[in-house]
Amino acid sequence: MSLTHRYGRLALIAGASEGLGAAFARFLASEGMDLVLVARRKEPLEQLAEALTGAFGIKAYCICCDLSDAYATQSVQTELAGREVDLLVYNAALSYIGPFEKNSQEHHQRIAGTNMITPLRMMQVFGAPMLERGKGAMVLMSSLAGFQGSGFLAAYAATKAFNRVLAESLWYEWKNRGVDVISCCAGATATPNFINTNPEKARFFAPRVQEPSEVVEECFRRLGKQPSCITGRGNRFATFIMQKLMPRKMAITLMGDTTRKMYRL
Ligand SMILES: NC(=O)c1ccc[n+]([C@@H]2O[C@H](COP(=O)([O-])OP(=O)(O)OC[C@H]3O[C@@H](n4cnc5c(N)ncnc54)[C@H](OP(=O)(O)O)[C@@H]3O)[C@@H](O)[C@H]2O)c1
Repeated sequence: MSLTHRYGRLALIAGASEGLGAAFARFLASEGMDLVLVARRKEPLEQLAEALTGAFGIKAYCICCDLSDAYATQSVQTELAGREVDLLVYNAALSYIGPFEKNSQEHHQRIAGTNMITPLRMMQVFGAPMLERGKGAMVLMSSLAGFQGSGFLAAYAATKAFNRVLAESLWYEWKNRGVDVISCCAGATATPNFINTNPEKARFFAPRVQEPSEVVEECFRRLGKQPSCITGRGNRFATFIMQKLMPRKMAITLMGDTTRKMYRL
């Protein structure tokens, strides 16, 4: 059954202007869904909306909004002007790579707002009407960094663990009420943001970097079947070794050492 038949016609993508968010938008447009694209930068959002409406004959609306803001969910709701969201992808995230104590309090606050508070609010605000209608879907982006302590990514990794646990919990609560929830746990993915961090190739234990479209397609193959998914065979293999075979201390050390080397810290 198509996504529009299963869930409805309107998808909202939070963090849609580039990278994985843009890949989610392209995939959903190719499935015939109309889109609400949310991010801070107007120009890339509008270019994407124009490209997708031209290519797939769908409708696309853009909302410029800083999702770290405490009122972000409210302003998105106001802009929606009563349109019902049938599928939510919460993709936006802020990160900080470096020693925890050197990041500013203000940036830590924005990481928490973007990665935890706003998705928590959006899941409630858009989830409740989906439950009333008895259909809908939600995708929350998480990361392999959230499976164990990840030195030099501490706040980001902790928020990604939060996302996975939130999505898995709601998968259980909502699975018999028509609303599918999944946490999509990606490893390194070739998005502009990842490439701009200028990572050095890790010599050891580095699964292949995935393309955004691969992550998105895998995620939608598993939506409705699993509470969370790890995309990419190499990422699943690495996670199996680190979570099931290694002592936790060793997994945390490996993750921290790899990040330190990748970012020359
Ligand atoms: N890339 C990877 O290697 C990787 C690996 C594992 C997991 N992930 C997860 O995948 C997701 C996307 O990753 P990415 O590399 O594509 O991310 P990204 O470039 O950092 O950001 C994704 C999108 O979110 C928007 N965004 C970020 N902060 C925002 C804010 N405060 N308010 C509104 N929009 C905001 C950005 O647009 P604007 O700048 O226009 O606002 C962009 O469109 C994230 O949740 C990340 O944790 C990525």
